[in-house]
Amino acid sequence: MPKDSLTITDNRTGQRYEVPIQDGTIRAMDLRQIKASADDLGLMSYDPAYMNTASCRSAVSYIDGDQGILRYRGYPIEQLAEQSTFLETAYLLLHGELPSASELDGWVYNITHHTILHENIKKFIDGFHHDAHPMGMFVSAVAALSTFYPAAKHIADETSRRDQIFRLIAKTPTLAAFAHRHSVGMPYAYPDNDLSYTGNFLNMMFKATEVKYQPNAVLARALDVLFILHADHEQNCSTSAMRSVGSSHADPYSAMAGAAAALYGPLHGGANEEVLRMLREIGSKENIPAYIQRVKNGEVRLMGFGHRIYKNYDPRARIIKRVADEVFDVTGRNPLLEIAGELERIALQDDYFISRKLYPNVDFYSGIIYQAMRFPVEMFPVLFAIGRTPGWLAQWQEMLLDKEQKIARPRQVYIGSPQRDYVSIEKRA
Ligand code: CMC
Repeated sequence: MPKDSLTITDNRTGQRYEVPIQDGTIRAMDLRQIKASADDLGLMSYDPAYMNTASCRSAVSYIDGDQGILRYRGYPIEQLAEQSTFLETAYLLLHGELPSASELDGWVYNITHHTILHENIKKFIDGFHHDAHPMGMFVSAVAALSTFYPAAKHIADETSRRDQIFRLIAKTPTLAAFAHRHSVGMPYAYPDNDLSYTGNFLNMMFKATEVKYQPNAVLARALDVLFILHADHEQNCSTSAMRSVGSSHADPYSAMAGAAAALYGPLHGGANEEVLRMLREIGSKENIPAYIQRVKNGEVRLMGFGHRIYKNYDPRARIIKRVADEVFDVTGRNPLLEIAGELERIALQDDYFISRKLYPNVDFYSGIIYQAMRFPVEMFPVLFAIGRTPGWLAQWQEMLLDKEQKIARPRQVYIGSPQRDYVSIEKRA
């Protein structure tokens, strides 16, 4: 009997089965042979919310939730946040290796020279209501891009894929900034290709009447680090959505709109926005114990706390605290930081949080930094989406090139009515 295998005895039939174990997994399809009768379809595994199901083999990012480890392509997140740039990290995620100097130059040049949007996109954004949520505008505008680049549907063509990757990484900050300018009624600010990726984003967000916007170097670097921290996170909800939509061979704009929509939810990328609202609602340190009690009563969740995978500390949260100090040296301290710090201190001593292994996640402090940098709260999930774009694209491309992947199509356990005959309306009770 091979050592790397699982012996299963089906007590319904007394039959024994040998199922190979590879990389700590058994293949769900190997369960199909286990049948109670000849017309049985075979055994399935039932795993709502994919709590214990690997949907792919991936080489993009690695998380050890117990140790609080996150690596992109093998490189620790701490080293990338310290020494890399967002665009270099994006290259790494997409290509698997760090670029040479000339590869990086070419990559940055190509991203920088795809930042402009077709003028019709402006009209499109103009059509949104003045108080439309920027994430809603972002999701729609990303989807709309597919209509401007019909060649994007040629997903098997490497050159087409590369072009859409340039465009998506380059244009997401422009779309995000345009969505913001629309909500505040300011004229759209066009990209300035003399500036860095994040310097230009700050320019498109905040440029007023000055002829040339000069981004603050510390803030531009802080934003760059925040984008690095958000760039990939294995098979999270939005990445799974990207892969799932992409598995039907939809173009990458449509797939990424699906991913961004998944990110919008308050349990995922919308959490940073909710953290700020929560801190404002708490208002002062004295109100924290009462708020913690509401969390323990199950009335509310402590936003920015907890993670499906991290059951120790989210390593991104640790780096963010350092970035926060650098930002506050420029912007002045965000008064909400004091409430957040105290909330964290109290929660981490409380048995409710300790026993459930609930620690601050990436979103707990990111919003406080964004707010200090003058980003409106509604923009926070959009900022997350800009950072996550290279990860979504790397995972999408990996999925397309993976010979084992097919259209994503989970099974179900049917719990509805057995067959019954249609009843005409006058005969219904
Ligand atoms: N506040 C209070 N209780 C919580 C929280 C929280 N933030 N998170 C989990 N719990 C409790 C939950 O009530 C449950 O308790 P019990 O066993 O008594 O029923 C237990 O902890 C396990 O929770 P779960 O919902 O089964 O855990 P999950 O893995 O399905 O959820 C999560 C993970 C991130 C959705 C959840 O922790 C949460 O809702 N956190 C707040 C939202 C948030 O900060 N999201 C951002 C995640 S990090 C950024 C990203 O990658 O999206």
